[in-house]
Amino acid sequence: MARDDPSGAAGSTRDTALPAILDCDTGHDDAMAILLAAGTLDLRGVTTVHGNSTVELTTVNTCKVLELAGLADVPVAVGAPQSWKREISHAPGIHGVTGMDGPDLPPPSLKPIDEPAIEFFHRSAAEVDGLHLVATGPLTNIGAALRSHGGRLASRIAGISLMGGSTGLGSATAAAEFNIWADPEAADVVFRSGVPIRMVGLNVTRQVPATPSHRRRIRALGTRTGRAVAELLDFYSEQLALRYGLPGASMHDPLAVSALADPQVLRFESMQVDIELSGEHTYGMTVCDRRHLSTDAAGLVRQRDPFGRPNAEVAVAVDPERFWERFIAVLAGYP
Ligand code: BDR
Ligand code: CA
Repeated sequence: MARDDPSGAAGSTRDTALPAILDCDTGHDDAMAILLAAGTLDLRGVTTVHGNSTVELTTVNTCKVLELAGLADVPVAVGAPQSWKREISHAPGIHGVTGMDGPDLPPPSLKPIDEPAIEFFHRSAAEVDGLHLVATGPLTNIGAALRSHGGRLASRIAGISLMGGSTGLGSATAAAEFNIWADPEAADVVFRSGVPIRMVGLNVTRQVPATPSHRRRIRALGTRTGRAVAELLDFYSEQLALRYGLPGASMHDPLAVSALADPQVLRFESMQVDIELSGEHTYGMTVCDRRHLSTDAAGLVRQRDPFGRPNAEVAVAVDPERFWERFIAVLAGYP
C-alpha cells in the first residue's frame, strides 16, 4: 500500500518509507496517528482494538477517518473486543460516547476485511520483509499475535513503536498510563518478546499540546480533513482541560508514528521496562530501569548490561516544533 508522502517531504517517499501496520483504538489522537502514518510510512493496514471505546466503534471510527482522507484503499482488520483479564473499561470521559466525538463524519461505506487482526499480522509479516508495528491502543492484539502460531511473529517483525506507559506519572491511575493499564498482561508479553521496542510515553506526549494556534493553522488548511482534525482537537482539548487541567490535547498517538517515521522528533534512552502485574497501586505501571547504562567516549553508544538488558528505547525528550511542522505538512496533502 505504498503511497507518496502527501507533504512531499524528503525521505518519506514511495521508495524509502518503512512498511508498517498501525494497531489502534481510534480515538481522537489515534485518528491523527492514522493520517500521519499514511503520509509518512508505507502503511500496509490498520488493525483495531478495544480501548477508547468498543472495538465495534473504534473500527467504525477508523473507517471514517480513512474515507475522510481518501485512504479507503488501506485494509482494516478487526481485533480484540476486550483485554485478556481486565474487565472492559473504555474512556467516554475523554473521547465521548462514539469514542471520537466532535466532527460530524458520515457513516463509512468502507468495511473491514474478513481476516481477523492477528491473522492479518501473520500474513503481512510473512509477505513483507522489515515490517514494523505501530501500536496506539491497548496491546491485546499484538500480545496475542506474538503468542500465536508458535511465536514466529517476533522473528519477522523489525520493531514495535508504541504509545504507552511513562517514565513517571500515570493517567488511568497515579502510576499507570491508559494503554498499558487497559491490558497489562498483553503489554508484558510484548515487552518480553525480544522485538525491538520504542516506547513513547506520557512523559514526552504531554509536552506536545495542541494549542489554539495549532488548531487555527490546521483549520486554515481549508480542507475537509483539516476541518475535521481541528474539530477533533477542539473536543479532545476541552476534555483534557476539564479532567487534567492540560493546556491542549496531548498528541500522544501521532508521536508513536513519528518515533518510526521521523525519529529525530524524539530522543531515546535504552532502558529495561517491566510491566507491573501485581501491585495494588501500581498495576499496569511501566517500571523503567535506567541503571547499568553507560556511554562511549563520544556519549553516543549505550552499552547493554551483563544480563542482556535493556529491552526498550524509551523516549525521554521531544522536539514539538519539528513534530508540528511535519504533521501539518502531511495534513495539507489530504483533501
Ligand atoms: C492513550 O490513551 C488513549 O486515550 C489515547 O488514544 C492514547 O492512545 C494516552 O494515554
Ligand atoms: Ca489510542
